[in-house]
Amino acid sequence: MEKLDENTLESWLDNVREYAFDGHVADYIPALSKQNPEKLAVSIYYLDGECVYAGDHQECFTLQSISKVISLALALIDNGEEYVFQRVGMEPSGDPFHSIYRLEQHRPSKPLNPMINAGALAVTNMIRGQNADEKVGRLLSFMHEMTDDRTININEAVAESEFQSAYLNRSLLYYLRQHDVIKGNIEETLDVYTKQCSIDVNVCQLSRIGALFANEGRDLHSNRQIIPKHFARICKTFMVTCGMYDASGAFAIKVGIPAKSGVSGGVMASLNHFGGISVYGPSLDKKGNSVVGLKLLEILSNRYDLSIF
Ligand code: DON
Repeated sequence: MEKLDENTLESWLDNVREYAFDGHVADYIPALSKQNPEKLAVSIYYLDGECVYAGDHQECFTLQSISKVISLALALIDNGEEYVFQRVGMEPSGDPFHSIYRLEQHRPSKPLNPMINAGALAVTNMIRGQNADEKVGRLLSFMHEMTDDRTININEAVAESEFQSAYLNRSLLYYLRQHDVIKGNIEETLDVYTKQCSIDVNVCQLSRIGALFANEGRDLHSNRQIIPKHFARICKTFMVTCGMYDASGAFAIKVGIPAKSGVSGGVMASLNHFGGISVYGPSLDKKGNSVVGLKLLEILSNRYDLSIF
């Protein structure tokens, strides 16, 4: 397909702008409730290294659940596939992202997949490091490597806000600790998790990571293998089966591109032989996915026949 230019992307954004009023910004993490629902941005990072963007492309937003793909890649690199999937499953849950009740249904207890909060907390617990600072430092270095951008950092206000209010995630951690799914100190794991969720990015940085996954884990500019091909494939497969939580099936039918959402309103999509696409629009639907992000990806996918299916 021909490349989209910035004017075309801008006009697609204008077409979906009205949907920003169909949802609500997340407020269960108090700092996120300050986001402006009218901010919108999109970026495509092509496999030849060209990045196009439109809208509020300089606006930073936190990764939130998009970080689950990144922590999974790092935990796989740190521990290997066998170790990781002894502790976390590979099956979609069809439940909301913070659901706790299926943990009770399996013996021995094992979160169903790494994209729901229970699974992501277990994955974060597997990241190597002597303490929380070292683990967070390794996650940040991994982000810098993937984007070739050392300015990427943590939004401390969002991290602190989530850490103070994360009662549900704390309860998931206590449950997982009781059943030996995770090791060590609960507050330390929550500290790493809330900081990984609070890494600030803009759409161009995010679409570059999407493109890296599309490029089988190789950096587009240096061709360096940053994530082993097999691990990049595992991450993209989870993006298809669980990336939109209990909306993943509908998303696969309507859009058909591996993608991961976050409650800040970001979506990162990764399409083999094409590149990375990212969208930012903080207004969320009831399942915690960006309303505008989903609509824009649906329109782009249909217009340019991007579905992998
Ligand atoms: O753990 C949480 O609840 C948030 N830090 C991330 C949740 C999230 O982004 C769900 N995605 N749509």
